[in-house]
Amino acid sequence: MPFYYFHGFLMFIGFVAMIVGFITARFMKKKTWWLRLHKIVNIVGASSTFGGIIVMVIYISLTGGGHFNTIHAYLGFFIGFLSVITPVIGFLQIKAVRTRIKFRPIHRFSGRLLIILMFINIIMGLRIAGVI
Ligand code: HEM
Ligand code: HEM
Repeated sequence: MPFYYFHGFLMFIGFVAMIVGFITARFMKKKTWWLRLHKIVNIVGASSTFGGIIVMVIYISLTGGGHFNTIHAYLGFFIGFLSVITPVIGFLQIKAVRTRIKFRPIHRFSGRLLIILMFINIIMGLRIAGVI
């Protein structure tokens, strides 16, 4: 099986987990457990996404390929950045309440942007891999 399937698989898990996290925050706030589920699935999703990027960077380095070769790669590294800062801002939103910085809208924006960009990059990745 080509190696990039593993990369794609981790991204798919990351995407599905974040969709579940989004649905929880958007539609299930009346449930007492929504934030716990939102935290868990999103941290799993962000870790899977970040892990998928590391796996591909290592693979490309070992096979002597070049980094930053495609739009998919550029967008992918930006997604990696968002998958680190979005959960951090999520925690700040809860912990750092005595600050003037409005973490809440920033977290909502970066979370939504992350999910949309992941969708686009998965389609691009599947095209590069010749699956679609
Ligand atoms: C949101 C989801 C995805 C992200 C964030 C992502 C991220 C990345 C990054 C950062 C690289 C470049 C690594 C480097 O230059 O060192 C890369 C390469 C690659 N990815 Fe993805 N990827 C995603 C989804 C997919 C999917 C679903 C596939 C298909 C199975 C795929 C196939 C590939 C292939 C074949 C490469 C090597 C060619 C290239 O550098 O563009 N990716 N990906
Ligand atoms: C990659 C990880 C994450 C993503 C993609 C994400 C995404 C989102 C999105 C899109 C929303 C807005 C939902 C809506 O439209 O109503 C949201 C809300 C929220 N998130 Fe996250 N989140 C992540 C991680 C976290 C973490 C780790 C925490 C806290 C520990 C957190 C705490 C919250 C809270 C408290 C809200 C409600 C804010 C509000 O009602 O405006 N999130 N998240």
